[in-house]
Amino acid sequence: MAWARGRTTGAVAAYENLCCSIGEKPADVALAWLLHNPAVAAPIIGPRTIDQLEGSLRALELRLDGDTLQRLDEIRPGPGGPAPEAYAWQTQTWRHTENTMTSEFDVKDLSLAEAGRRRIQWAELEMPVLRQIRERFAKEHPLKGTKVSACLHVTTETANLMRALQAGGAEVVLCASNPLSTQDDVAASLVTHDEIPVYAIKGEDNETYYKHIHAALDLEPQFTMDDGADLVSTLHKERRDLLEGMRGGTEETTTGVIRLRAMAADGALAYPIIAVNDAMTKHFFDNRYGTGQSTIDGIVRATNILIAGKTFVVAGYGWCGRGLAMRARGMGANVIVTEVEPLAALEAVMDGFRVMPMAEAAEVGDIFCTLTGDINVIDAHHFERMKDGAIVSNSGHFNVEVNIPALEAMAVEKRQPRPFIDQYILKDGRRINLLGEGRLINLAAAEGHPASVMDMSFANQALSLEYLMQHADELENRVYTIPEALDREIARLKLEAMGIRIDVLTEEQKTYLASWEEGT
Ligand SMILES: NC(=O)c1ccc[n+]([C@@H]2O[C@H](COP(=O)([O-])OP(=O)(O)OC[C@H]3O[C@@H](n4cnc5c(N)ncnc54)[C@H](O)[C@@H]3O)[C@@H](O)[C@H]2O)c1
Repeated sequence: MAWARGRTTGAVAAYENLCCSIGEKPADVALAWLLHNPAVAAPIIGPRTIDQLEGSLRALELRLDGDTLQRLDEIRPGPGGPAPEAYAWQTQTWRHTENTMTSEFDVKDLSLAEAGRRRIQWAELEMPVLRQIRERFAKEHPLKGTKVSACLHVTTETANLMRALQAGGAEVVLCASNPLSTQDDVAASLVTHDEIPVYAIKGEDNETYYKHIHAALDLEPQFTMDDGADLVSTLHKERRDLLEGMRGGTEETTTGVIRLRAMAADGALAYPIIAVNDAMTKHFFDNRYGTGQSTIDGIVRATNILIAGKTFVVAGYGWCGRGLAMRARGMGANVIVTEVEPLAALEAVMDGFRVMPMAEAAEVGDIFCTLTGDINVIDAHHFERMKDGAIVSNSGHFNVEVNIPALEAMAVEKRQPRPFIDQYILKDGRRINLLGEGRLINLAAAEGHPASVMDMSFANQALSLEYLMQHADELENRVYTIPEALDREIARLKLEAMGIRIDVLTEEQKTYLASWEEGT
């Protein structure tokens, strides 16, 4: 099949235009077309694969209408040969390449793709806002022709975001934003079913992690989509040649926003960034309810420990810490909060939690979790005071909140009683159990946030990218808060999807609220 990869031929270009105009992915259209033409399909993909493809297409609910089929037939005899099969062939090639880093992707095992696809579809059920955006994007193609390098946790929810961007016409590449957060089946499905290049393997070492970031940058993007700012910082430090083509970017999390604001203050940031984390429909819900629930989920999956009756120490009473403290209390723990900000500490007290310095909490805590974005929040002098069997974890972005090198230095032995638990035996025989290598435990040992909250976070991502497409050139090289109108629109769509109606201001109320003259 000499024609198989001829992406530049006139026929392929016409084919791509057609796919774009009907809002479907080339590979899916190619497969649908082949299934309409069994005589052509059988020698290319074989009868068993045809069965599997039919199943996949049924799940996609993709049916080509007569008009599209006729337009496909018109393209076929063009110069360069039959285009649709080219894409089918390409999909097949991807499906049969395993465990290799090619220039197109690097995932653990492509045979996990089907399981990944089922979970991606399951997550989508809880992501009605993002689904609506994807459907609109598929019709309007607001991202047509743009290239996006994304560095996000490779989860089922992220897969749905990538599919939305692709439906909008963007060419996307995805790498992991944390070495332990990748869901390998999801990575395999994105490569196999969506032809999205993914560079991510759960448990990858640091060198591979950065190799993958570089691979994502090889796309030569106009936009970055980051979670923690490793992609943006690598781009600014090691790939400065790409800066000229950059138009804008988005950032998902608190820690990334802090890093990017520091870059902007130094005059180092070379393009505008929208801080998705600053959206109220992001941090009110994702950081609080998402982190709250999924951090408990991660700790429980790693340890199978009973939370009720335990003393649970939450370090940091920001958006994430509030959520975790609330959920730990809900499960019957005695919750202690540690803080450095008087206001946040006072709020924790008024919310009914005990507040004390970590040095005191260290002596009484059974379970510890840091969510501060800070460094060495649990340090050597805290380990010295901890009880035998203490469980230590982190749900902040980087694995620096617990001083792991200090713990390594204090330990005389290290065991692994269960996956995701490193048990450090100290000189006096006390055992300190560190979960998930100190990386965000909700993603290391569980699946990250539930889809329902990521629906809003990723709606913000998708709409921010659309906004940047339209306005990036008017913006300065600094970090912007998401436009309030987008935030409100997402809240409205989410309520609508949940079937919840609210009151609407009357004209009289609008006038009253806008006037300063009326008083007692
Ligand atoms: N696990 C996840 O899925 C997830 C989701 C969202 C955010 N995050 C990350 O979690 C971290 C916290 O995010 P947030 O939105 O809650 O931030 P935030 O700024 O709202 O809260 C952080 C809190 O930690 C406190 N703090 C700082 N240093 C401290 C110390 N030494 N001891 C005790 N408290 C300290 C601060 O005063 C602040 O109140 C960030 O790294 C963020 O990127 C993780």
